[in-house]
Amino acid sequence: MFAATLLTLFPEMFPGPLGLSLAGDALARGLWSCETRQIREHGLGRHRAVDDTPAGGGPGMVMRADVLAAALDAAAPADDPRPRLIMSPRGRPFTQGQAREWAAGPGLVILCPRFEGVDERVIEGRGLIEVSIGDYVLSGGETAALVILDACVRLIPGVMGKIESGDSESFESGLLEYPQYTRPREWEGRTIPETLLSGDHAKIARWRREQAEAITRERRPDLLD
Ligand code: ADE
Repeated sequence: MFAATLLTLFPEMFPGPLGLSLAGDALARGLWSCETRQIREHGLGRHRAVDDTPAGGGPGMVMRADVLAAALDAAAPADDPRPRLIMSPRGRPFTQGQAREWAAGPGLVILCPRFEGVDERVIEGRGLIEVSIGDYVLSGGETAALVILDACVRLIPGVMGKIESGDSESFESGLLEYPQYTRPREWEGRTIPETLLSGDHAKIARWRREQAEAITRERRPDLLD
């Protein structure tokens, strides 16, 4: 079973959208689990502080290494085989290939930081893998963690069921997806491409491949390299 453990100041954010639809059904069926750990339980002093001012000065606050390490150690013992991630815009870019690898494993321990940053020493000291979901800055790691889990959970065997294998889509083939159509045959003067109505499966497969290549060339030439 794929076991997710989230370390966060906002445990109410989980499972969030992953409690509904495909992922939610899979959660209810026990195909994956979603445990949250409140970082503040390891905070210091009367106020359970988890952050402090940055060494060297500057704006914002930095999450403390000692607090985060205590939270991590309580959530996952040293022999826990799950990869330990920390969500960060400076992390390595998350990809479909990475989702496939993690989905096939025992699950993930994900640290979701808030504030301006995290003391570098806990990243080194606990061997955290920094992961980014894209070149933009979110207000915290929680929504990024939800994205990672969504991409992984749908690949767990049994989650998609009969819907599809999950591998005919964008990125699994290395190409963006071809255009899709359904009834009605004509809508607002727009028709479905003749090929798709031809019943010639080889011809349809060729058309789809050509469309996927053309769209990829136009929108994401980097994927073809
Ligand atoms: N935290 C803030 N922005 C992020 C991003 N783009 N990816 C992962 N974690 C983040």
